[in-house]
Amino acid sequence: MQKITLEELVAYLKEQGFVFQGSEIYGGLANAWDYGPLGVELKRNIKNAWWKKFVQNNRYNVGLDAALLMNKEVWVASGHIGSFSDPLVDCKKCHSRFRADKLIEDYTHGEITGDGMSNEELTKYLLDHKIVCPTCGALDYTDIRQFNLMFKTHMGVIEEAKSEVYLRPETAQGIFVNFKNIQRTTRRKLPFGVGQIGKSFRNEITPGNFIFRTREFEQMELEFFCKPGTELEWFSYWRKYCMDFLKSIGVDGEKLRYRDHEQKELSFYSNATTDIEFEFPWGFGELWGIASRTNYDLNAHQTHSKENLEYLDPETNTKYLPYVVEPSVGVERMLLSILFSAYDEEKDETGKVTRTVLRLHPAIAPYKVAVLPLIKKNHSEKAYEIFDLLSEHFQAVYDETANVGKRYRRQDAIGTPYCICVDDNTINDGTVTVRDRDTMEQITLKVEEVIPYIDSKLKF
Ligand code: GAP
Repeated sequence: MQKITLEELVAYLKEQGFVFQGSEIYGGLANAWDYGPLGVELKRNIKNAWWKKFVQNNRYNVGLDAALLMNKEVWVASGHIGSFSDPLVDCKKCHSRFRADKLIEDYTHGEITGDGMSNEELTKYLLDHKIVCPTCGALDYTDIRQFNLMFKTHMGVIEEAKSEVYLRPETAQGIFVNFKNIQRTTRRKLPFGVGQIGKSFRNEITPGNFIFRTREFEQMELEFFCKPGTELEWFSYWRKYCMDFLKSIGVDGEKLRYRDHEQKELSFYSNATTDIEFEFPWGFGELWGIASRTNYDLNAHQTHSKENLEYLDPETNTKYLPYVVEPSVGVERMLLSILFSAYDEEKDETGKVTRTVLRLHPAIAPYKVAVLPLIKKNHSEKAYEIFDLLSEHFQAVYDETANVGKRYRRQDAIGTPYCICVDDNTINDGTVTVRDRDTMEQITLKVEEVIPYIDSKLKF
């Protein structure tokens, strides 16, 4: 059952300090979001969990942090410059913006799609057929320009074609262009994978649904290189690995499903693709794309760069381009699916909400532990001492305002799995009360037992 709507969640996250509207004091910037003190911890924990599972704890994989700005030729080879664009036109009168091919398609009820027409042909068709602006009825358009989804900027001080660079629309290409460097320096044999986390930018025409589709987002991508002929086995391996990972960090399994792409839907270079979808309040949406991409990307870079990217197979002494399986997921979509899974409200028999609780996995929760002195003037010094000790090991928070019951509720609402109450016993015999967020049960531990206790709960 849906516990919270998207609008309620957005308000909740703002109220608690997870996510704010970007540039808010200037009226905001559409679809830009800033991650507050809790959001930044949550996001970082998600990235750390992915990195641990996909890079550090996986015997096959290594990591990479490639530059965000890359040689323009990378995007020529990958096809992004050629095929990541739509023809855009503005109405000069009312300033509405349209895709020119879409105007023609709508006018002809789908008979002519405008696909493959040059800008000049599109303009001529609009004028010859008097296809007016659907908003204001004027026939007064700007010139058509190709709208590439990549953000373009200039490197250096001169704004000329030669200095053009793009903000990357995916992190994957940084991995492909480093394939040889990584294989040589790690002396890896196939199969092996390279993982990367980083920002990507797409000038999406229809961003929305909060952080689900934005123009600036972060991806966690793995390119897994394997021997041709073994790729479908590895595809199955990663398909399951990703699903298991999502469940292990607290995404509700009931809301997850695989959507295998049908043959006619597959890109021409892919022989298998699956999306792991999550049921958001507006319906199922893509969370994670897993694609078997054959040797398409390495081949494109080998052809375009004229650098030999082949792998010498020591077993067969033959050279070939490895095949690739790519699981690619957005950090923000994972965060959103975790929040929708974790949000809970406890109600009494009259239906009144008695407690709001974010049931986040302890490894993902922004704070693992809150340290609360029972009475500020008596216990704060000891509590600070304990906070200093614990914060060496975990993300911890200290709170001495309001009564302790209120402070427990506050921590429940931001997902802190453990609260430690410091009282006279702590001063007399070195024990603290540890309260569990989900069960609200309390146990007594020696201060030095708290670290191994919490540590044991962080596994996923
Ligand atoms: N390298 C392959 C690739 O980038 P994609 O399906 O375009 O594939 C992969 O993107 C994942 O990145 C998506 O499944 C989604 O989680 C995330 N993603 C893509 N576009 C996004 C956007 N505009 N906003 C937020 N996340 C996005």
